[in-house]
Amino acid sequence: MLTIAHLSDIHLGQDHRRDRGTRARRRAERVMAYLDALPGSLDAVLVTGDLADHGLPAEYEQVAEVLKSRHRVLICPGNHDSRAPYREVLLGEGPGESPINRLHQLPGADVLMLDSSIPGRPDGLLDEETLTWLDAELAGGRTELPALVAFHHPPVELSVPTVDGIRQFGEAGLARVLRRHPRVAALLCGHSHTPAATTFAGLPLLVAPGVVSTVTLPCEGGPGISLTHPPMLAFHVLDGDRRLTTHYRVVPEN
Ligand SMILES: [Fe+2]
Ligand SMILES: [Fe+2]
Repeated sequence: MLTIAHLSDIHLGQDHRRDRGTRARRRAERVMAYLDALPGSLDAVLVTGDLADHGLPAEYEQVAEVLKSRHRVLICPGNHDSRAPYREVLLGEGPGESPINRLHQLPGADVLMLDSSIPGRPDGLLDEETLTWLDAELAGGRTELPALVAFHHPPVELSVPTVDGIRQFGEAGLARVLRRHPRVAALLCGHSHTPAATTFAGLPLLVAPGVVSTVTLPCEGGPGISLTHPPMLAFHVLDGDRRLTTHYRVVPEN
């Protein structure tokens, strides 16, 4: 059994009413403090993109500080991120503009974190390089184990007009790769700033809430962005039958 915490869209550096990013940082720190104080252990904490708000090196310095944890933290970029400073500050690598895709081998499962960002654009795409990499990683290595595939942009509409227009497009390519690999148990994403559950390519697609804000539905008077909803996260539990169960949590005040 595997237990993973999943948060997204911390947007460090987002300047709300000229607060110089203190609100975004406070909310991310509240979530990370909650996870660090858990009496039990986690196999990983996933953060599915929009780590920085403007993709600035100074914002990534903050990301590195805030995401320090007693747990193993796995990240991928979102549309607000910028590949070169992300690589330099968070990964300690030289500046490069190719997609940032990573395989993480957890006890009992592989987690593949993909880069769905398109430099300079709010919508998303898993390009050919990324899909080829995903196909090869799923085919090689620990094929007897289940795999979780994570990225920033959802590849389907979520009935939230503002988000649906900037979702992940070109999704047929992803579906083709996923159908070749029955070891994939579920898909995880962020970007939409709303806790949601749906399906893609016959697989569960779990959307993490946005830590910095919540996007509201038409029935709530939206689409709009709520800054008053408290930060939330998801706990995903992968059981011995390769079934993923998700529990969403409001993170209490410290
Ligand atoms: Fe976001
Ligand atoms: Fe985003």
